[in-house]
Amino acid sequence: MSRSALIIGASGDIGQAVARQLAAAGWSLYLHYFQHALPVQKLQADFIQQYPRQDFFALAYDLTDETQLDQISDQLFQVDAVIFAAGTTTYGLFQETTTVQLERLWEMHVKTPMLLCQRLSAKLARSDYGRIVFVGSVYGGSGSPLEVAYSTVKGAQSAFANAYAREVASQGITVNVVAPGAVDTKMNQLFDATAKTQLRSEIPLSRLATPDEVAYWIQALLKKDAGYLTGQTLYVTGGWRK
Ligand SMILES: NC(=O)c1ccc[n+]([C@@H]2O[C@H](COP(=O)([O-])OP(=O)(O)OC[C@H]3O[C@@H](n4cnc5c(N)ncnc54)[C@H](OP(=O)(O)O)[C@@H]3O)[C@@H](O)[C@H]2O)c1
Repeated sequence: MSRSALIIGASGDIGQAVARQLAAAGWSLYLHYFQHALPVQKLQADFIQQYPRQDFFALAYDLTDETQLDQISDQLFQVDAVIFAAGTTTYGLFQETTTVQLERLWEMHVKTPMLLCQRLSAKLARSDYGRIVFVGSVYGGSGSPLEVAYSTVKGAQSAFANAYAREVASQGITVNVVAPGAVDTKMNQLFDATAKTQLRSEIPLSRLATPDEVAYWIQALLKKDAGYLTGQTLYVTGGWRK
C-alpha cells in the first residue's frame, strides 16, 4: 500500500510543488485548499490519470476555524505524513497590526496546525515512520521589520517542532521545519521590480528559490532514511541570512 500524506495548502505554489513531487514518488495524497479549489482539482485530475494506483482526495478548510477539526481528521484513513504549507503574511508596522490580524496569523500558522497534530498523532504513530514538516520561514530565525507578527509565528513553528519532536520521537515520528528565504510565489507578488532587484542583490545565490527547490527538501525529510533528523529547522535560503 502506498504511503499517504496530508498537504495543508496544496493549492499554494509551494504546496503544489510538494504535491507533484510526492505523487511522482508514489504517495497517495489528501490535498487541502481554502479559497482556491481549482489548482487542487487540476492536480487531482492529473494525478488520477498519471498515477491510477494511488488515491487522491481534495478537502477544503479554513485554518482560522477550529470548530470542524474533528470532522476533518476523522475523514482521513491513513496518514503517514503531514505537511503544513499554508499561510499568509501581513505587511506593515507592528504598531498598526490589529488584534484580528494577530489572531489570524497565530491560528493559521501555529494554533490550528498544533490542534491537527494532536488529532493526527495516533494515525502518524501507526505508520512505520510518521513525518510532520512545517514550511516555516527565514524570518522565524532572523526576524523581519514590517513582518514582525509573521516572523513571530514562523519562529513559533520552529519552537513547536523542536519541542514536539522530542515528545513523539519514541513513536517513530519526526517533526521538522523547512524554512525558505524568498521563493518566487504569489506571496511575493506585492514586490515591484525594484524591490525584487534589491532582494536578489542581498541573496548570495542572486535569485529567489523556485517552489520545487523548497519542495525537494520537504520530500527528502519524508523518506525513511531521513529518520535521524528531528526537531530541526532547515534554512533553504540560497545563503541568505537566517
Ligand atoms: N513565498 C515565499 O517567499 C515564502 C517564504 C518563506 C515561507 N513561506 C511560507 O510558505 C508557505 C506557503 O506559501 P506560498 O508561497 O506557497 O504561498 P501561496 O502560493 O500564497 O499559498 C498560500 C496557501 O495558504 C492557504 N491559505 C491561506 N489562508 C488560509 C486559511 N485561512 N486557511 C487555510 N489555508 C489558507 C492558501 O489556500 P487557498 O489559496 O486555497 O485559499 C494556499 O494554499 C506559507 O506558510 C508561507 O509563510 C513562503
